[in-house]
Amino acid sequence: MNTYSFLFTLFLSLQSQVFSEDDFYQVKACCSFNGPNFDKVEYILTTSFNKQKMMEYNSTRGNWIGFTDFSIAISNYWNKVPYHKIQRLVEMKLICYENINTIQTIGNLSTTPSMRLKSVKQPDGRHPAMLVCSAYNFYPKLIKITWLRNDQEVTEGVSNTDAIPVGELYYQFHSYLEYTPTSGEKISCMVEHVTLSEPRIIVWNDSLPEGEKNKIVVGLSGLILGLVIFISGFIYHRKKSAVYNAIRQE
Ligand SMILES: *[C@@H]1O[C@H](CO)[C@@H](O)[C@H](O)[C@H]1NC(C)=O
Ligand SMILES: *[C@@H]1O[C@H](CO)[C@@H](O)[C@H](O)[C@H]1NC(C)=O
Ligand SMILES: *[C@@H]1O[C@H](CO)[C@@H](O)[C@H](O)[C@H]1NC(C)=O
Repeated sequence: MNTYSFLFTLFLSLQSQVFSEDDFYQVKACCSFNGPNFDKVEYILTTSFNKQKMMEYNSTRGNWIGFTDFSIAISNYWNKVPYHKIQRLVEMKLICYENINTIQTIGNLSTTPSMRLKSVKQPDGRHPAMLVCSAYNFYPKLIKITWLRNDQEVTEGVSNTDAIPVGELYYQFHSYLEYTPTSGEKISCMVEHVTLSEPRIIVWNDSLPEGEKNKIVVGLSGLILGLVIFISGFIYHRKKSAVYNAIRQE
């Protein structure tokens, strides 16, 4: 099978006498699925040597590109050999298409967090106020909440809980911000999750009646998946809003 012979090639290069024990070569294969039925599939193969990105194959573009003089030369050569292209198509079928059901299942389990922003402590002159930004009923587990003051990230006075399992599948997460209110400032809580194609921002509005305060949501967006599946298990990747299926060689 092509996938295995590819890994075997890596093994040989690691054994080569040209390299010291500290040198390593890494290949990452990623499948990105897009569209409601995962009908748009993109296969990206990247090779790195000692963390320096060397080459990238993109199935949509249909060719390799190199990032160093040496790898540019190799890319140009590989792009001319029809067999290399067929090999990439076979890999794409094995790695991306053969796993589409598994990835869809995980994708179907993914749930966008519902968000609440509320104050847990009103300022009383000397003491700062405290806000809590909560995410409920989301899956998968990894989530990031960032506090913004006038659109700048705030790190001081922030504390987070762990993602707390709720029931069999879902999680909840709370982030606290202790701050001294200043008039005219805008405090917001930004949520990033794999099910959100862009961060969701909730603006704190102190002048709204209690109960209305948590309903202002800016930048709500559709659902795109972003899961990483390593061959050894499931881990997911938050960045790209796409499903990745990676072979990792370290
Ligand atoms: C792959 O190539 C296509 C076409 O050039 C481009 O739209 C896409 O963003 C590329 N994907 C990545 C991950 O760079
Ligand atoms: C995932 O959900 C879609 C849309 O509801 C459905 O068509 C598909 O069969 C589901 N796939 C799996 C593997 O559960
Ligand atoms: C807060 O709510 C009030 C009353 O609805 C509104 O007039 C004001 O523009 C809101 N402020 C922000 C920052 O959204």
